[in-house]
Amino acid sequence: MFPVERNPDGGSRDLSEQIQQVLLKAKGIEVVYRRGRQTTRAVRGVSLELGIGESVGLVGESGCGKTSLAKALMLLVPTQAGDLWLGSQPVDPQDHRAVRRYRRSVQMVFQDPHGSLNPRLTSGAAVAEVLTVVRGMARRQALQEAVSLLEQVGIDSALAGRYPHELSGGQRQRVGLARALAVGPQALLADEPVSALDVSIQAQILNLIRRFQMERKLSLLFISHDLAVVGYMCQRVMVMYAGEIVEEGPVDRVYEQPAHPYTRLLLEAVPDLDRPLVRGIHDRETELLHPPQEGCLFYPRCPFREEQCRREHPEPVPLAGGRSSRCFLAEELAGLGRDETPLTWKEPVE
Ligand SMILES: Nc1ncnc2c1ncn2[C@@H]1O[C@H](COP(=O)(O)OP(=O)(O)OP(=O)(O)O)[C@@H](O)[C@H]1O
Ligand SMILES: [Mg+2]
Repeated sequence: MFPVERNPDGGSRDLSEQIQQVLLKAKGIEVVYRRGRQTTRAVRGVSLELGIGESVGLVGESGCGKTSLAKALMLLVPTQAGDLWLGSQPVDPQDHRAVRRYRRSVQMVFQDPHGSLNPRLTSGAAVAEVLTVVRGMARRQALQEAVSLLEQVGIDSALAGRYPHELSGGQRQRVGLARALAVGPQALLADEPVSALDVSIQAQILNLIRRFQMERKLSLLFISHDLAVVGYMCQRVMVMYAGEIVEEGPVDRVYEQPAHPYTRLLLEAVPDLDRPLVRGIHDRETELLHPPQEGCLFYPRCPFREEQCRREHPEPVPLAGGRSSRCFLAEELAGLGRDETPLTWKEPVE
């Protein structure tokens, strides 16, 4: 696992100081997939703000809706509800020119760059293509600029003539990053950018992303199910469960005093913390797919559930220090260290 090191710019500073201006804002995003008779509410009423130059982590177990949310933010999947703003400008998904402009400002980096790179283009041509199409550069200039961009992401000019299948996974991810940066974006949405890579090169790619994020003052939405990596990369974290953001706040505070029971379980499940995996955290996909129709979505798995939680759906409770948690016990939990559990522990519902 990646060593846990604190982001030097980390969550300890007051958020109101950090976030000067909002770059990307989303309100009430809903994504519903229909396959035959099955409907999946992948994203449920998610609202978020990404400040200029701010790095925000999005964590949660497999299938909770992280990729769907990122795709909704890129306008790559239809949303059933919700609004987007870039700066103070609303983004109209029906206005194709506005969408094109928006996509130049917000770029996505995928988990597996193999699928997103054209197998028939060399790495140089893949980056040059973006520069000619999006930035309007002449071909010659674009090729020169592409080589320079590739060098900035650690791809030697000798590799500019190679095709994706002739590159390693890490090299392909670097090319994917160079393509995203070639657009000249203000924000990067990175969806598990290193989880398909060898552990030995994960840190290199993470450091590269972080370097660009800081140098170019990019806003970063960093998706991962590795909490240590998010602690390293991000100032703020959002925890997602069954399509909802259940907790958010500065990384340090959320990790030290998680204010939602699900965050507590996730933190306990971190393998290198030398604690047994919490029962039921990874083997209950069916409950994630079919959370209860009413009450708290986390009710069946919650060790602290009470009768109220079965009937009422909790709204986000604002907490001190720019945090919030969708839990009736939010205030109580927010004051406790992550190892303190004075409440009665309940086994998951069978
Ligand atoms: N194109 C699709 N059609 C139907 N269902 C989908 C589609 N894409 C995702 N889903 C479902 O939506 C839910 C959320 O999926 P999503 O890929 O957004 O989760 P995720 O948090 O990114 O998971 P992972 O960590 O495995 O990448 C899952 O139940 C998934 O099966
Ligand atoms: Mg995903």
